Amino acid sequence: MKLSFSTTPSSEVPADWLILLLPEGFTLEGEPALLNQALGGLLERLRAQQDFQGKLGELCQIPAPAGIAAQRLLLAGLGPVETLSVRGLNRTLQTAARAITSRATRQVALSLRAVQSANIAPATLTQLAMTAFEIGSEGQDLFRAEKKRHPIEELIVLSPTDANPAELAAAATTGHILGEAVNLARRLVNLPAEEIYPESFALKAVELASGAGIHCEVLDQHALESEKMGSLLAVARGSDRPPRVVILEYRGAPGNGHKVLGLVGKGVTFDSGGLSLKPTDGMLTMKCDMAGAASVLASVVAIARLKLPVNVIGMVGLVENMTGGRAMKLGDVLHSRRGVSIEVQNTDAEGRLVLADVLDLALSRGVDYLVDLATLTGACVVALGEDVVGAMSNNQAWCDRVLGAAQAAGEDAWQLPMFDHYADLIKSDVADIRNVGGRWGGAITAAKFLERFVGDKPWVHLDIAGPAFAAADKPHREGGGTGVMVRTLVELARTM
Ligand code: BES
Ligand code: MN
Ligand code: ZN
Repeated sequence: MKLSFSTTPSSEVPADWLILLLPEGFTLEGEPALLNQALGGLLERLRAQQDFQGKLGELCQIPAPAGIAAQRLLLAGLGPVETLSVRGLNRTLQTAARAITSRATRQVALSLRAVQSANIAPATLTQLAMTAFEIGSEGQDLFRAEKKRHPIEELIVLSPTDANPAELAAAATTGHILGEAVNLARRLVNLPAEEIYPESFALKAVELASGAGIHCEVLDQHALESEKMGSLLAVARGSDRPPRVVILEYRGAPGNGHKVLGLVGKGVTFDSGGLSLKPTDGMLTMKCDMAGAASVLASVVAIARLKLPVNVIGMVGLVENMTGGRAMKLGDVLHSRRGVSIEVQNTDAEGRLVLADVLDLALSRGVDYLVDLATLTGACVVALGEDVVGAMSNNQAWCDRVLGAAQAAGEDAWQLPMFDHYADLIKSDVADIRNVGGRWGGAITAAKFLERFVGDKPWVHLDIAGPAFAAADKPHREGGGTGVMVRTLVELARTM
């Protein structure tokens, strides 16, 4: 998507669409007044008839409007200006983007001029718009001959006349990079497991890293054996596809004294459940079980493209959880890299087995702060619903920073408790710990398991089992992979 800026009055811009963002209870002054005049009082009538009031996410499409140069007009509501948030703006912008990309468009003019809010600067708005339109113009229809979504050729941002052009251009570039990163994560998740498996994911990572100036190392089966990653290797044993661990290193702040942010992702490229086989319904979407890895890869690429002055190590553990003749069995005792022995009581609780060894490897590579992302438990979806990320941590200050970044990025995350006594639930009679914690509190007992592998480093575990993959379309987002937490991780890196 190409981007340009214009200071032309919105009524005079020739485009397939003119989109006007309006707050609830908008007044007809300035830009809306001029447009209203050109449209022969249409905006005033729509408001009076309550056909468009500017409620959050409300849209009003007017085909072939008389009096303006654009072929179609779309009004998009932002809700009350006092409660305008990044989350709300993202919703409206993505809803607007999806409304117009169901058919091919060349030029879309987006007017930001009616939004005058103390808490949202024009540059921020431009950045959010760029990201939203990038995301909103790509669907999950990778293999459909007839596409449901169509890319926009050019977005013309009608900026407020007093905005700083250089600032707007920089914000647009940032927004573009973020949108592409979210789409990259979505695409990796949406591709079927026959295309995205440990080796092919690793090759994609190598290719993307070399284009972005990231150092990339791939550990193959042999290297993982040398590293004694017995827990991860046990999961991989049931599959004909060998495992991989990818290590991405971006040094934006070289020299001593700069801390290293470690991002770890669960990359189970398909989760059949193993011998504790999932029923069809539960297995249906399990190509999404590498969403944590996809978001980590996309985030590190975005951080590098944005040249953020931080040091980041991204690590993803890539395996396929299958039922082959050498698959791990119930009762097996695994020997993790850290030396902690693990009794397997359910082969479907495989994500924590993978992460255990990768978190430990990340510690040995000198990370100072850790965040892991994983489609880890159905229990987290039961607790928080499909659209909210569960956050669990061993360090409240670090957790607050991660949650703060999520809020700034407009993504919903909620903290769950980590009381000591939850750890009792993963005790084993034959090994140090077991890989399931019984019926209740499953999201937290999984986190308690991971906590055994992070030493004393500040760590936040993000369970993305709900939000990583959307069962169906909603007005503001496409079904399929969502690229959840990419914006949050980049925001976190920005604030380091
Ligand atoms: N990948 C699943 C979790 C999941 C569920 C992700 C739904 C996305 C949507 C994970 O490996 C799993 O199977 N977890 C088990 C753990 C249980 C056996 C303790 C679960 O949640 O049922
Ligand atoms: Mn599983
Ligand atoms: Zn899984």
